[in-house]
Amino acid sequence: MDSSQGDMSSIQVFSCFQRTSMNYKKNTRIKKGIVLTAFGSSTEQGQTALENVHARIAANFPDIPINWGYTSVAIRRKSKAQGREIDSLPLAIGKSLEEEVTHLAVQPLHIIPGYEFEDVQRTITAFRHIPKGFNEISLSPPLLFSQTSLHKLGNALLQILPSTRSKDEAVLFLGHGSNHPANSFYPALAYWLQQQDPLLFAGTVEHWPDQESIRFHLFKSGAKRVYLIPLFTVAGIHAQNDIAGNDPESWQSSLEQEGFECIPVLKGLAEYNTFIDIWLQHLNLAIQAFQTIPKY
Ligand code: CO
Repeated sequence: MDSSQGDMSSIQVFSCFQRTSMNYKKNTRIKKGIVLTAFGSSTEQGQTALENVHARIAANFPDIPINWGYTSVAIRRKSKAQGREIDSLPLAIGKSLEEEVTHLAVQPLHIIPGYEFEDVQRTITAFRHIPKGFNEISLSPPLLFSQTSLHKLGNALLQILPSTRSKDEAVLFLGHGSNHPANSFYPALAYWLQQQDPLLFAGTVEHWPDQESIRFHLFKSGAKRVYLIPLFTVAGIHAQNDIAGNDPESWQSSLEQEGFECIPVLKGLAEYNTFIDIWLQHLNLAIQAFQTIPKY
């Protein structure tokens, strides 16, 4: 099986509840739609990054309407207070329905298939049962979901290594982390990165691999300078406070206290074309899957 087939089989396409009476069979037209879903961001930089993702996806699918669904209640509340209302995922899917979309491709911008992703799955399952709803809804996977995807994301990370880095300097990618079993993608990625270059590391800000274990490996590596790169869709509050910054608990502060020189690179994955390319590939596969459906 080649890797693109591996990706294809990971896209879940759900047929939706349809009444079979003649009335409903008349509806043979196809209108495709896209919903992009992300946790959301309260920072200007984060919002700009998501707008950049939107622009690239819209340019690739000029005839397909795109709606955004933000999964974080706190971010939506904050955004509203700033005078900028953003939609929840059910609202975004509902808007696509109002636009008379029949085939909806949902692309999450999440990193691992953790709790947030499971919530997206549940929301889609609920929409499958809406009367007079979509003919089909597809759900593409997050960035990490399989061995193939691990290698793909790993290779994409190799492409964003700082150009100023010299061979004896370390690079530490830091994700959010979760107590969901899918957190195991982070140590798996760390292992893969180590195989490519022993000075590449990966950890998480809230779970494991944690500061203690990473610090141990950094000491052993002999590196003096460490680049800190967020493994987050957007470089928001976590990147600014938990990775970089003067907070004594931040990775930068605690590593500097141990004598390392830290250089944070505060850009989220959504700010690099190489990751947007992966989301575009997923969407292309999802939209192709719609084209193969029998017309009835
Ligand atoms: Co958090």
